[in-house]
Amino acid sequence: MFELSKKIKSLPPYLFAEIDKKKRELKEKGINFIDLSIGDPDLAAPKSVNKVLSSTSKLKENQKYAMDQGKDRLRESISKWFNKRFKVSLDKNKEILPLIGSKEGLVHLPLGFINNGDYVLIPSPGYPGYRGAAIFAGGKVHEMPLIEENRFLPDFKKIPLAIKNKTKIMYLNYPNNPTTVLASLDFLKETVKFCAKYGIVLAYDNAYSEIYFNEKPHSILEVDGAREVAIEFHSLSKTFCMTGYRIGWACGNSFLVNTLLKVKSNIDSGIFGAVQETAINALENETPYVKELRKIFKDRRDFFVNSLKDRGFKQIYSDSTFYVWCRIPVDFKSSVEFSKYLIEEKNIIATPGIGFGKHGEGFIRFALTVDKSILKKVFT
Ligand SMILES: Cc1ncc(COP(=O)(O)O)c(C=O)c1O
Repeated sequence: MFELSKKIKSLPPYLFAEIDKKKRELKEKGINFIDLSIGDPDLAAPKSVNKVLSSTSKLKENQKYAMDQGKDRLRESISKWFNKRFKVSLDKNKEILPLIGSKEGLVHLPLGFINNGDYVLIPSPGYPGYRGAAIFAGGKVHEMPLIEENRFLPDFKKIPLAIKNKTKIMYLNYPNNPTTVLASLDFLKETVKFCAKYGIVLAYDNAYSEIYFNEKPHSILEVDGAREVAIEFHSLSKTFCMTGYRIGWACGNSFLVNTLLKVKSNIDSGIFGAVQETAINALENETPYVKELRKIFKDRRDFFVNSLKDRGFKQIYSDSTFYVWCRIPVDFKSSVEFSKYLIEEKNIIATPGIGFGKHGEGFIRFALTVDKSILKKVFT
């Protein structure tokens, strides 16, 4: 009876919704399964955060509409955290915008810049939200292949000139989901130069900045000139296992930050005040919690990667994040075929690489978001 919009029709099926359907089917059949499909850490948020949520939700001021720009104290905490972590100082009034999770900001950004037919560059494989964001804003998508030979970094030289000239936004994400690799400072410098040359807004997704094992990931804002072209996205979801709280922030170029605020003021009405208080608490007391988190993820990763190697898997990537990105065995024709095999024969749910874009084909992503005792069952 009702006709869907062309935009909705042109969206690919949202990968995680498809996987959820599969999980529901297994549950209905009473089949136990191991879920390594979604990036939602199993660990509890910091204890102090829950206490803060409980006490501050009782305050009347937090039961009212929140300011679009977020609490002043939250922006202050973000600014301090950022300076401590990346040695970059941010103006809390102009260069920081709290978000209802980083996805919210990442997806709303193109509404501020895209006219019909403008291009948005997205990494392939990459976080599925970027594609939807471009389409909702009326943009065209150009996929930048992240291939193994180039250590999963895009090659800007391969983007046709006609597309570069019509591109308004580029999404980039390191530490990278799903490939786990980091970007060097040299690559980030090259990226800033490229975006400045073609007048492209650089939407740098740093949601996994704290989930690393050896090298510390960079902020794009460490690069000279980045403040002219970049807006960076951060999240408390992964750093503090707070996916359900819905809080993150955007920071960087003040014009970009302000444009995102303009878009958001027309869409949402701020973040629950008590949730903002939890973010202040987490950011100000973070060090021991996040250190422990990294230890747990490293332990899981070492076990899982070694077990994969013992089973003959060869091309395995696990440099950062809580994912493992791995080439599928040669006996399988596609990543979907391999993931179906894992579900049907092993009751393991993992994400087929193709779900992250066509250049993800040939790979599978395991999310190590379950206890090590459960990971051990994968290999028994
Ligand atoms: C690369 C990347 N960016 C952004 C997000 C969104 O996170 P959130 O909206 O919870 O901050 C995710 C979530 O999985 C992600 O993997």
